[in-house]
Amino acid sequence: MVRHLLFNAFQSLKYIKMSTVDPYEKKIIMVTGAVLSLFIFSILYARNKNNDLPECLPFNKAYLEPKITKLDDKTYQVYAVAQMWQFQPTQIEVPVGSEVDFFVTSKDVVHGFHINDKDVNMMAIYGNINKTTVKFEKAGIYKIICHEYCGIGHQAMQAEVIVSEPSKY
Ligand code: CUA
Repeated sequence: MVRHLLFNAFQSLKYIKMSTVDPYEKKIIMVTGAVLSLFIFSILYARNKNNDLPECLPFNKAYLEPKITKLDDKTYQVYAVAQMWQFQPTQIEVPVGSEVDFFVTSKDVVHGFHINDKDVNMMAIYGNINKTTVKFEKAGIYKIICHEYCGIGHQAMQAEVIVSEPSKY
């Protein structure tokens, strides 16, 4: 598709060169061409870039078992399970610079899954797996909180990601 567009653009440029188009009109065609290329470029760029948007995965009972899996020194997978009124695992420890895939689900009602200081704002829903990837560049404690009212213990429902310097490992 892109090749086809480029070919068309090239053909029209040839046409502009050969014919006697009014210079003002020529300028407008050039500007339009530039805007169009920028548009196409940004679409291609976004397609390659946005691979860490939340995704919805097919449900599988394995995700109901909370766990932290280390894939390599900087890559972790967390199966986070929400239920009235806690998250499990409650503490997730990773070294600075880690990339963590969160697979989030619920054992009962709908809960929220929000990580402080990170662009994570997901729902934990029974029978549903939401996945997102977060990179932790700075050491610190990142609270995970439930931001969807889920009953009497809602406000106490939280967990944390503890990000520490690699010397600890
Ligand atoms: Cu769980 Cu609010």
